[in-house]
Amino acid sequence: MAITITMGIQKGGCGKSTTSGILSYLLKEDGYRVLSIDMDSQGNLTELLSEQPSNEFIGKSVLEGIQQNDIKHYIVRISENLDLLPANNFLATLPRWIYTGKTYTGETIQFSGNPSLILDNVLDQVRDDYDFIIIDTPPSLSEQTTNALCASEYVVVLFESSNWCYSAIPNFIDSVNSANEFGKRETKVLGILRTLNDVRRNDAKAFNEMIEEDYPNEIFQTVITRKAPVGRLSLFGFNENAELKQALDQYRNFYKELIQRVKN
Ligand SMILES: Nc1ncnc2c1ncn2[C@@H]1O[C@H](COP(=O)(O)OP(=O)(O)OP(=O)(O)O)[C@@H](O)[C@H]1O
Ligand SMILES: [Mg+2]
Repeated sequence: MAITITMGIQKGGCGKSTTSGILSYLLKEDGYRVLSIDMDSQGNLTELLSEQPSNEFIGKSVLEGIQQNDIKHYIVRISENLDLLPANNFLATLPRWIYTGKTYTGETIQFSGNPSLILDNVLDQVRDDYDFIIIDTPPSLSEQTTNALCASEYVVVLFESSNWCYSAIPNFIDSVNSANEFGKRETKVLGILRTLNDVRRNDAKAFNEMIEEDYPNEIFQTVITRKAPVGRLSLFGFNENAELKQALDQYRNFYKELIQRVKN
C-alpha cells in the first residue's frame, strides 16, 4: 500500500513543484513505484515531469479522474516506475464542481460525501499499485490543498526564508492538524524543508535560525540553496540534462533524511 506525501505551503514560489518533481524522480531511481499527482491548476509539476505543455492534458487530467471517479484511466506513464496524474488550468474549477455539481464542460455530476475526502477516496483505486504517491499543491489553502492533505499520511512543509513564508507556517500546520482530525490517514508533518536559501543573505540566515528554534523536531538538516541548475530543471527536465547531477546534489541529502523519517 502506497505511502502518500504532500508538498505544501500556502505561499507562492517556495519550491513545492520543484521538490515534488525531484522527490518523485529520486524515489523512482531508487526502485520505488511512484505516482506523482499535480493538484495545482498551474500545472507546473505536469510540465516538469511530462515535458509537455499542461494544455496537452485538457480533458485528460486529475480533475476528470476525480469527477468520473475513475483515476486509473487518467494516469500518464512518464518512465518505468514513474506515473503522473496531470493538471491544467481547469483544475481551478474543482471547488465549483464540488459545491454545484457542474463541471467546466457544463455536465452535471452530482457528488455526495465529505468535500475534503474526494481525492482520498478515489486514490483507494490505485494505492496498491504504488510504493509512494507524491502530491504537489497550489499556494493556497483551497479545496485542492485540503483534499491533498486529507489523502496523505505525511506532509513536507516548504520554507523559503522570508517573513511571509514564516508567517504562513502556523496556519498551514493548523490545516495539517485539521486533516489529521477529519481525514482517515492520520496526516502529520514529516518535516520542514528550507528551500531557495540565499546563504549569503543575513536575513535568510536569521530565518534559518528562527525556524530551527521554533520547530526543532520538524526541521530537516538539509538546506536547499538557490542554485541555477535547480532553477533550470523547469527548462531542461530530467532527460538529457547535462547539469542534472548538480541539480539533484543537495536534494539527495534531503531524500536520505526523508526516507529515514518515513521508515521510522
Ligand atoms: N533551489 C533552487 N534554486 C534555484 N531556483 C529554484 C530552486 N528551487 C526552485 N527554483 C525555481 O524557483 C521558482 C519557484 O519554484 P517552484 O515553482 O518549485 O515553487 P512553488 O512553491 O511550486 O511555486 P507555486 O507556489 O507558484 O506553485 C521556479 O521558477 C523554480 O524553477
Ligand atoms: Mg508549484
